[in-house]
Amino acid sequence: MDLTKIISLSLLFFCLLIPVKTTAAVTCTNAVCRRDGPIIRFPFRLKSHQAQSCGYNKGFDLTCHINGAVNRTTITLPFSGNFTVEEIDYAAQEILINDPNNCLPQRILELNLSTTPFSGVYVNKFTFFNCPTSEYLRFRPLNPITCLSSKNSTVFATASSRMVDYLSSTSCRLMKTVEVPVPWPFYEQIVTSDLSDNLWLTWKVPECRRCEIRGGKCGIKSNSSREIICYDVHKPAIPRRARYAIAIGAGIPGALIAFGLFCYVYSKINSCIKRRRLVPSPEINNAQAHYLHSSVIITGLDGPTIESYPKIVLGESKRLPKIDDATCSICLSDYEPKETLRTIPPCQHCFHADCIDEWLKLNGTCPVCRNSPEQISSPENFTNS
Ligand SMILES: *[C@@H]1O[C@H](CO)[C@@H](O)[C@H](O)[C@H]1NC(C)=O
Ligand SMILES: *[C@@H]1O[C@H](CO)[C@@H](O)[C@H](O)[C@H]1NC(C)=O
Ligand SMILES: *[C@@H]1O[C@H](CO)[C@@H](O)[C@H](O)[C@H]1NC(C)=O
Ligand SMILES: *[C@@H]1O[C@H](CO)[C@@H](O)[C@H](O)[C@H]1NC(C)=O
Ligand SMILES: *[C@@H]1O[C@H](CO)[C@@H](O)[C@H](O)[C@H]1NC(C)=O
Repeated sequence: MDLTKIISLSLLFFCLLIPVKTTAAVTCTNAVCRRDGPIIRFPFRLKSHQAQSCGYNKGFDLTCHINGAVNRTTITLPFSGNFTVEEIDYAAQEILINDPNNCLPQRILELNLSTTPFSGVYVNKFTFFNCPTSEYLRFRPLNPITCLSSKNSTVFATASSRMVDYLSSTSCRLMKTVEVPVPWPFYEQIVTSDLSDNLWLTWKVPECRRCEIRGGKCGIKSNSSREIICYDVHKPAIPRRARYAIAIGAGIPGALIAFGLFCYVYSKINSCIKRRRLVPSPEINNAQAHYLHSSVIITGLDGPTIESYPKIVLGESKRLPKIDDATCSICLSDYEPKETLRTIPPCQHCFHADCIDEWLKLNGTCPVCRNSPEQISSPENFTNS
C-alpha cells in the first residue's frame, strides 16, 4: 500500500467518524437472565427490565423463568407456549429454542408459528409413529422418543418417505406429520431423530443483518416513530488512543498515516474474529458441532465421485460381503433380489443405490459410521460372489 492510498483511506475513515458520533437512538442497555445466558437486546427485550421501545414488538418480548434452579431466558409463543431461549445470533438473525421440560418432540407436535415473527431456517417434514414396544426389534435402527414412549408403546419420528411407507405397513399407528425447523436440510435425521435438539428459527423483520455485520446495532430511532436505525457502526474500531492521536494530530499527515495503518491492521484482526465465529462454542452440543463442522467443511459429493463407488445387483442368494447387512439402514427395507446396491469403499457399508446416492449428494460421509469416502484414493472393488 503506498502513502497516498493510506492518507486518502485515513481521511475517508475520519469523515465516516463524524456522523456516527452524532447519531442518537433510544438508548437501551443489554440484559441477561443469568451471566452465561443469551444477551438480550434489540429486537428482543427483557420485559421487566427494558423499556418497551428497546424491543421491536410484543413478539420479541422475553422473560426470565427459574427452571431446574437455573434462571432461563424464556419466550412465549402464542398458541405454542413457553420455550427456553438457548442462543440468539443477532448477525444471522437466528434464535435457538428448546422445551424447558425436556420433551421437545411433545412441543413440536403442537408447534404453530403462524402468529409469531419466526419461521424455520430449514424445515423438514417429520412423521410421528406410535409402535408396539413388543415389536421394538423390528425398528432397531430408529431412535425412540423416550419422553413420548411408554411401557407398551414406543414413539418414533422420521423424515424419510421410504421409512414412512415402511412404518405405515407395520402395526405402528401414524400419529401426525409436522414441519420441524431444523438446522440443516437432511441434518442427521434423514432416517430418524429423537428431535431433542434445539429448534432453529429465524426472523425476517426487522432486518438488521447488514447493520450487525458492520459491527453496528439496530434500534428504534425515537419513542414516537417506528423507524429502525443502525448506530454504533465501527465504534469499537476506534480506541481512545487512536481518537487522541486524531485530536492532537488533525492536519498532521503523520498522525493520519499512523491511524491509517491502525485501521488496516484492525480490519485484518476484525475479519479474523468474524471467521472465528464459525468455530462452535463449547456450549453447542455434539450434534450441532457436527452440523457446523460438516456445513463448513464437508459438502456433498459430485455425481462422478458417487458413480465411482462400487455398485452391485443382488442375485437370488442376496449374499453380501457383510453378513449382517440384510437391511438398508437409510430406508430400513430389506434387500430384495435384483435390487441395485452401492457400497462405500473405506467401510464397506451397503445401501440401496438410490438411497445412498441422494444421501451422498448432500453429505459426504457414510450415514452409518460417518467415515468420509473421500479419504480413500483407490476404492476396492467388491463383487457379489
Ligand atoms: C422513551 O421512553 C422511555 C420510557 O418509555 C424513556 O425512558 C426514554 O427516555 C424515552 N426516550 C426518548 C429518546 O424519548
Ligand atoms: C433471573 O434474572 C432476572 C434478570 O436478570 C432477575 O431479575 C431475576 O431476579 C433472576 N431470578 C432469580 C431467581 O435469580
Ligand atoms: C409462560 O410465560 C409467561 C410469561 O412470563 C408466564 O406468565 C406464564 O405463567 C408461563 N407459563 C407457563 C406454563 O410456565
Ligand atoms: C395455527 O393457528 C392459527 C390460528 O389459531 C390457525 O389458523 C392455523 O390453522 C394453525 N396452523 C396449524 C398448522 O395448526
Ligand atoms: C401394557 O400391556 C399390558 C399387557 O398387554 C397391559 O396389562 C397393560 O395395561 C398395558 N399398559 C398400558 C399403560 O397400556
